[in-house]
Amino acid sequence: MSITNIKKNIIASCISIESINPTDIIALLIPPPSPDLGDFALPCFKLAKSLKMSPIMIANDLANSITAKFPDKFLSVTPLNGYVNFKFDPIKSASFVLKELLEKKSDFGNSLSGANKTICIDYSSINIAKPLHIGHLSSTIIGGALCKIYTKLGYKTIGINHLGDWGTQFGKLIVAFDLWGDMQTLKKEQISFLSKIYVRFHEEAESRPELIEQARAAFKKLEDGDQHALELYTIFKRITLSEVKKIYKKLDINFDSYNGEAFFNDKMQPVLDELKKLNLTEISDGATVVNLSDYNMPPCILIRSDGATLYATRDLAAAYYRKKKYNFHKCLYVVAYQQNLHFQQIFKVLELAKKEWAQDMVHVQFGMVSVEDGAMATRKGNVILLKDVLVKAVDKSLSILKEKSSKLKNKKLIAEKIGIGAVTFFTLSNSRIKDIVFSYDKILSFDGETGPYVQYTNVRAISVLKNLDVDLDTYFNNELTIDELKGIDNKESAFLISLFEKFSDILNDVIDKYEPSILTRYLIDVAKGFNKFYLENRVLNAPSECKRARVAVTYATHIILKEGLRLLGIGTPEEM
Ligand code: ARG
Repeated sequence: MSITNIKKNIIASCISIESINPTDIIALLIPPPSPDLGDFALPCFKLAKSLKMSPIMIANDLANSITAKFPDKFLSVTPLNGYVNFKFDPIKSASFVLKELLEKKSDFGNSLSGANKTICIDYSSINIAKPLHIGHLSSTIIGGALCKIYTKLGYKTIGINHLGDWGTQFGKLIVAFDLWGDMQTLKKEQISFLSKIYVRFHEEAESRPELIEQARAAFKKLEDGDQHALELYTIFKRITLSEVKKIYKKLDINFDSYNGEAFFNDKMQPVLDELKKLNLTEISDGATVVNLSDYNMPPCILIRSDGATLYATRDLAAAYYRKKKYNFHKCLYVVAYQQNLHFQQIFKVLELAKKEWAQDMVHVQFGMVSVEDGAMATRKGNVILLKDVLVKAVDKSLSILKEKSSKLKNKKLIAEKIGIGAVTFFTLSNSRIKDIVFSYDKILSFDGETGPYVQYTNVRAISVLKNLDVDLDTYFNNELTIDELKGIDNKESAFLISLFEKFSDILNDVIDKYEPSILTRYLIDVAKGFNKFYLENRVLNAPSECKRARVAVTYATHIILKEGLRLLGIGTPEEM
């Protein structure tokens, strides 16, 4: 149980009102407007009706009786304008949370709340032969962070890269490659070569419409298993994946499945049959569709008039497959908001097909990403490549390091962690749905609300611990005494301790809202809190009676920052 929950339970256990049970009390507890007032506030407005008393009277009565009955549980219990404010003794809180942090270290905040529940997370889901552009970044990073956080909370997570590896574009690519391609250049330039010939195909097709016909025929051949077509297709796929996997490695991203659209080619028919049997499909202009006009949506097209199946058909088959294979508790799709309608349609069709699990499907949508000095992706090929963004961020970090910390060894490795961490942190730090524009200077700043700022704060904490030059496990072998903890009886420490306590609530909040920005915000608060603490409290040359407590706060900060960043897929340099 998280520490906040333990505290809430303590409060609930001290309140006995006949008409209300402890769970309801816990649900009512909120943080007071200012931490000076206390740790939790109980609003008495909802109790007024059943108790037939004014909220102010209830608050007064409750505060008096709790103080009388439980004189040692709280530092203070005070009524204020219809609220009861509960303040725990900060020293006791500190003792509690620091003990747990020092014991559990990076396991702090782990829970079993997700035990026996599987979460499928469809994310990144790149398209074969198309360059990974900056828009894929959000999906990849948000999905990756959600995977790690769900896992920490005890869920089984299945990360799925639903590859865009089927469709008429492969006919175009095959034609384009046969006309203008060669293996040597392909091996050298990889995806960028494929996108080059793909763009050329579109350009030339404007004056040579027969190319479109040829592409259609080539795709048909691929569908029929023609050897040449299949061979090229396989090479395109392999090349794309090997290039992309290098980026995944840098971003600390792993998938459990790469089953994409092609995988569902032979799994659509049973789904189509079922929908037909349920009378959900109809023929419209030769196409097989599910009419969704009752729900103010255009029809969901399943089979085109030329017999081809679509993206949506494969997504329906994929949903059936995932439910059967993983029996998920939830199935998330981390995909840009441009695909809102698509997912609304899919989820609606599942609901109409009486799949009660349709309600467990979630479109985790996000906004557009663009770079300050560049245009967003277009069909014409002037896309901002994800690879280039990462390279540029790392290069810029390297030049900052050369300037600021010229003596540092391993600058390249460190710059990699800083540059990639900066891009990741920034991408996650905006609420998901917002369109974002990033500037390299801003995201790389060491003293803004950035990834490098959090990393740098962690480095400060590490350097204190290194200078202390002890084995930390031995150093904290004996529990901190109340007398020692009095050495951190100040505002800055209390604030940090209160943040540490919240860690697991924060993680739960992230998955409840599918919103990693809650964690980035939190890490910024911890980093700022520590920097204030460090400014006001000597640590290494603290008076001996409070030194261990201050070191403990420092160590705890390091544990939280490192683990928090790890959950976001961000590395933590030891020096910078
Ligand atoms: N490949 C698609 C794209 O890049 C995203 C796929 C998302 N996942 C899904 N199951 N539809 O637009």
